[in-house]
Amino acid sequence: MPTYQQTYRMQPATAHPPQQSPARYTRLSVHPVSGALGAEVTGAELGDCDAATFAELERALTDHLALFVRDQALDPEQQIALARRFGPPMPWPYAKPLPGYPEITELRSEPEDQYNFGGSWHQDSLNFERPPKITMLYGVECPEVGGDTSFSNQYLAWDTLAEDLKEKLTGLKAVNSAAKSYSGQVGTDEVKDHTATPLTFTLDQEQEMEHPVAQTHPVTGRKALYVNNAFTARFSGMSEEESLPLLHQLWEHAITPEFTCRFRWQKGTLAIWDNRCTMHYAHNDYAGCRRVMRRIPIEGDRPV
Ligand SMILES: [Fe+2]
Repeated sequence: MPTYQQTYRMQPATAHPPQQSPARYTRLSVHPVSGALGAEVTGAELGDCDAATFAELERALTDHLALFVRDQALDPEQQIALARRFGPPMPWPYAKPLPGYPEITELRSEPEDQYNFGGSWHQDSLNFERPPKITMLYGVECPEVGGDTSFSNQYLAWDTLAEDLKEKLTGLKAVNSAAKSYSGQVGTDEVKDHTATPLTFTLDQEQEMEHPVAQTHPVTGRKALYVNNAFTARFSGMSEEESLPLLHQLWEHAITPEFTCRFRWQKGTLAIWDNRCTMHYAHNDYAGCRRVMRRIPIEGDRPV
């Protein structure tokens, strides 16, 4: 029998325990969507919710890492007010804000657009000193089908690395830059001219920012892998050439299907996710449709 080089590795069984055994909630109805992360939340009115409901929402986010709250009628003021309960909204300087609301970026895809926003696996804004801890995205207009968002649990990504690799990466930092994306395909006129989101990024706005390869979550104390293909250019103290083979290995591992979930949007759905322990991916499979979302990132601490 011929023998061949083994080019794949089967994923040993994993699980994120809160997905199998969600906490008891009295104000919210919480429905986990995969064994790795993510829950749909129904029965909540977040436009003006009381302290007990908000406390349950925070607990659900800590446990399930990404929430989809259905059937919310939120105007921009209500979305901003809800964001402020998590922390200060973080202005995003790379697009024109929604007129009158500097906290909100409107992500807009028109039927003729070829490229979407967030169409690569990433945590948000690793090029900032204090990247957003949480991002809130609200569906104003969603296609009937398509335009889902996938998420990946980066606690699981870290926990399942080989012990010798974890040792090698512990204490290591990586250099992150938005120019990684914007000096490549994302910054070309071909892309800018074919997306309706009013991007204003210029390369002279950009600086490099070092963050740990694995950050320790300030609430749970757990380590999560914290490098992505959109922002991470290299390991600190190493060249791009030296860094890329291991970075590619980590990026591939980070999106192992068993670490992920996928949400389907409807108009009025609010997504809330924790950027410190998840990555996300915006599926670009709704050509010919309009999709309009309101996005608010919430400032975090400097990752450690
Ligand atoms: Fe994003």
